[in-house]
Amino acid sequence: MADGSTWHSSDIDHVIVSEEQIREKTAELAKQVAADYADVESVLLVGVLKGAVMFMADFARALGRSGPPVEMEFMAVSSYGQGTTSSGVVRILKDLDRDIAGRHVIVVEDIVDSGLTLSWLLKYLESRSAANVDVVALLRKPDALRVSVPVRYVGFDIPSEFVVGYGLDYAERYRDLPFVGVLKPSVYGRG
Ligand code: XMP
Ligand code: MG
Repeated sequence: MADGSTWHSSDIDHVIVSEEQIREKTAELAKQVAADYADVESVLLVGVLKGAVMFMADFARALGRSGPPVEMEFMAVSSYGQGTTSSGVVRILKDLDRDIAGRHVIVVEDIVDSGLTLSWLLKYLESRSAANVDVVALLRKPDALRVSVPVRYVGFDIPSEFVVGYGLDYAERYRDLPFVGVLKPSVYGRG
């Protein structure tokens, strides 16, 4: 794992995806998207706050190097509260700032778990008349396979454990870790 130099990386039980794996995979995904979108005028990345913020930043830069011009939008939706289980309820906390009609939209997600958030989001974006909507997700859990939600670009399929780091939080912490890992059981219930 990382060098353990920050107090909270010592809360990590084990690393699921390392910083280097994330870097390599992000470049790989960007290449695929660049090839698939070579002929479009521009793509509009829609990052899902807050979890996707790290991946959005890195993916946008990787895509910008070889792909079509990139524009960025953010939405914030909430399906989870402070805890680690889905409420099944999706709320818009921050909407798009502009019209996406006719645009080539790529949703940038940190993780697809049950798929509820994403399938809701895809319907929403399609209802706003995007030309097409694809999804790139850094992580996907096997549970996602239970809902029919098309994720064209997936970084890593990971076990059904709650993970933190690289944008993902537990009670708003650990987003800054450069890798994705599983917390020690002792961390839960502490704050
Ligand atoms: P669903 O179940 O709707 O969930 O696909 C998608 C959103 O839930 C959050 N999520 C997680 N957040 N560690 C986190 O920090 C996890 O293991 C995890 N699983 C789901 C996340 O915000 C995602 O967009
Ligand atoms: Mg979260």
